[in-house]
Amino acid sequence: MSLTVDNVVVRYRARRPFADVLLRRPGSARPAVDGVRLTLNKGEVVALVGESGSGKSTLARCLAGMQELTSGRVTADDIDLTTLRGGELKTFRQRVQMIFQDPYESLSPRQRVKDIVAEGLAIHGVPKAAREARVNAALVAVGLTPVESFLDRRPFELSGGQRQRVAIAGSLVLEPDYLIADEPVSMLDVSIRAGVLKLLHELRESRELGVLLITHDLATAVHVADHIAVMQAGRIVEQGPAAQVTGDPAHEYTRALLAATPDLDRAISA
Ligand SMILES: Nc1ncnc2c1ncn2[C@@H]1O[C@H](COP(=O)(O)OP(=O)(O)O)[C@@H](O)[C@H]1O
Ligand SMILES: [Mg+2]
Repeated sequence: MSLTVDNVVVRYRARRPFADVLLRRPGSARPAVDGVRLTLNKGEVVALVGESGSGKSTLARCLAGMQELTSGRVTADDIDLTTLRGGELKTFRQRVQMIFQDPYESLSPRQRVKDIVAEGLAIHGVPKAAREARVNAALVAVGLTPVESFLDRRPFELSGGQRQRVAIAGSLVLEPDYLIADEPVSMLDVSIRAGVLKLLHELRESRELGVLLITHDLATAVHVADHIAVMQAGRIVEQGPAAQVTGDPAHEYTRALLAATPDLDRAISA
């Protein structure tokens, strides 16, 4: 099973100078995503690496079916997302989950952990009686144990790493096939990043999850990813097996990223 973006272009409608509009001058801004092809398979971690503004988040939203495309298509198991209707669309939304950079922002501050994690279950019509067991199992899966000591806490009573684990649990509880993680550790303390990354890596094994891990840090990518795609100015300039991309980079931008990552060997090995 796989999730694929095929020749996708996303051009945001830029606010143009009024004179340009009057004179019908074409917009000159380059697309945020400019003809990208990328596949995410189940049971595989793909790292999407690139500097800020290169189009990573936009591409992530494309894969998650949350972004209007200018052209190209996104498919799940060869089915074009734009053809999905009703129940099919709902199933897709359950199968593909997104995790964001700032767990504090993505969690409602007043809700308790058990309600945060259960939220998706209610939306997807899982009967009340079945929810508690699934919430508990999801918390165990993300390492928030003993579960009883976390269920009634609120986000401010958790560390940054624990908050991100709650967000991950809220996705896992829906038993997705794919997790799109947009810079999931960049707001976290360096000391706890490795634990969260290790968790994502383990989930790929234990649940055969396909993970798209967005990062601007190649050192992170090389330790958790099977496949690395390097993005620059809306294009994927290089992609391949992680060891190959980092060991024998073909593109000068990848080489520049590597040169800016002196601690490649030491990082994230915990
Ligand atoms: N909603 C939006 N409207 C207009 N431009 C946007 C929007 N979101 C992103 N962009 C622009 O698209 C480009 C890519 O952004 P983004 O996908 O967020 O990159 P990254 O995640 O790699 O930092 C940037 O130039 C950004 O300013
Ligand atoms: Mg981004």
